[in-house]
Order: sequence, then structure tokens, then C-alpha cells
Amino acid sequence: MGTDKPYLLLLNGPNLNRLGIREPGLYGTDTLQDVVSRVEAAAAEYGVLVRSFQSNAEGDLIDFLQAHGVHAVGIIINPGALGHYGYSLRDCLADLQRPTIEVHISNVHRREAFRHQLVLAPVVTGQIVGLGTYGYELAVHYLLRELRK
Ligand code: DQA
Repeated sequence: MGTDKPYLLLLNGPNLNRLGIREPGLYGTDTLQDVVSRVEAAAAEYGVLVRSFQSNAEGDLIDFLQAHGVHAVGIIINPGALGHYGYSLRDCLADLQRPTIEVHISNVHRREAFRHQLVLAPVVTGQIVGLGTYGYELAVHYLLRELRK
């Protein structure tokens, strides 16, 4: 992994290591590795690398963001359920102030009421919700094409 080349961060929170197996009716059959590969391929079109990290622990996601976020050209994050209550993660993103797209594979607004609250919303650039794993690729193009025009 070169340090001189620009890079994006791709973060996935709790239970997203189970993508492809977990509730496929909601989240589809793509694995997390499929998602990472597609994000890497999309970013490569712009000459940008991807540093990817998944954890089931909020503190580990924050440690990764603090270590790699300052110099990232952008951040794509699916926080999983932390998106509904992860205030430490929110504070971390507010501190970093990098262009950030929050992705949710499912349309959380059509699901249980506790999923309607998205606590990262005020500190992210935008959100992509309910477009399946395609949302991650859309986030790459937004961050690397639209924002860098
Ligand atoms: C999710 C939606 C969350 O409500 C849920 O807890 C997840 C996945 C999504 O990608 O749709 O873990 O973030």
C-alpha cells in the first residue's frame, strides 16, 4: 500500500462481515469481499487506492479513522446499527471533517422505527440508502468525480 498515492477509506461496521450470508432478502448475496473489490475497481478508475476496514467494535472503527482519516481523500462508511446510536463515531467524523458518504444497503426508513434515526447525518456529506451494495460504488463516483471537479 503506497503512502504517496491518494486513498479512500472504506469502513464497515458491526455484522457487515456477514454480508452475503446474513439476511440475504434484506442485504443481498454480495459478500463484503465482493463490495471491497468493486469499490477498489471503481476507485482505480481515478487512480485512487482503497484502505478497507471492518469491525464489530465502535472503538476499533474510531482507531482506524483516527489513524488513516486525516489524509484520506474521502470516506465511505456503512456504520451498520451504529448509524442509529453511535455518538462516539459521530464525534470522530465531526473531528476529521473529511468528505464522507454514509451508505446503508437497505432502506432503513422503510424498516423498524429505531432505524429511522441516523445520528451521523449532521456530520456526513451525504447518505445513500436502500440502493443495495450498488450504493458503495455510487459513493466512490461522487467522492472522486463530483467533489473533485
Ligand atoms: C445497515 C442498516 C442497519 O440498520 C443495520 O443495523 C445494518 C445494516 C444497511 O446497510 O442497510 O447492520 O447499515
